[in-house]
Amino acid sequence: MYKTEEFVSAYADEKETHPFRTHMERHTILELMTDVKNKSVLDIACGSGCYSRLFCDLGAKKVIGIDCSRLMIENAIANTPINMPIKYLLCDGKNYRHTHKSDIVFHSYFLNYAASSDSLNDMCRTISSNLNKDGFMLGIVSMLGIEPAGAVDCCDFYTSFEKQPDEGKEYEIHFRGQKESIKNYNWSQNNYENALRNAGLRNIAWHPPKYCDSPKMSQENWQQLMDHPVFLAVTANK
Ligand SMILES: C[S@@+](CC[C@H](N)C(=O)[O-])C[C@H]1O[C@@H](n2cnc3c(N)ncnc32)[C@H](O)[C@@H]1O
Repeated sequence: MYKTEEFVSAYADEKETHPFRTHMERHTILELMTDVKNKSVLDIACGSGCYSRLFCDLGAKKVIGIDCSRLMIENAIANTPINMPIKYLLCDGKNYRHTHKSDIVFHSYFLNYAASSDSLNDMCRTISSNLNKDGFMLGIVSMLGIEPAGAVDCCDFYTSFEKQPDEGKEYEIHFRGQKESIKNYNWSQNNYENALRNAGLRNIAWHPPKYCDSPKMSQENWQQLMDHPVFLAVTANK
């Protein structure tokens, strides 16, 4: 996955331009994020680094962005001003441990890559182990495996399963105009929540997406996304 430059760069561009990304995903993150000023942030599965950079713009003193795709990390480095206090690392988020814990752990579309319940538990342990006591976690979890969210037609990505995948089962996400597709796994909110709790997180709360108006998206499309959210946000404390 994330194996061609064409796909990675299209994904990175979409994050900065598509109203679903800028006016719903980013808006929800900004609404739910705690104050990041002078805080250390770990961004797990940082991809092209768009949110790592956002946290720096908001005043984070240090951000570590980790991702297991070499092309994503290269794209993130290429798009990050040299004076931003971000360190990008190519590594697997299932077993990453830093010597210093962070004040905030952020992850966006990370947990839906768990190919087994063991992997899901490992990922949640990475989140918890790298978070300071009383630290804050914000996650974005894809709901594309839940019918009919994967069939909404206004985000330029869609799924193509005939029947909703069972718990923990794989499904594919296609991006309009791209040959490459990605695989995610369909976990229920309950399973995510249990794995986060078992890893030591508390005050776990789920949040629907929020949006602000954009001239590029009709009210009808926003309504479709509110009725069938393609992601949910989850917050917690250590
Ligand atoms: C949909 S992208 C999201 C990127 C970024 N968080 C964002 O919101 O734009 C998912 C990312 O998760 C990364 N990823 C998937 N499994 C991972 C793992 N086990 N460890 C680290 N990164 C992972 C992929 O390489 C990819 O960059």
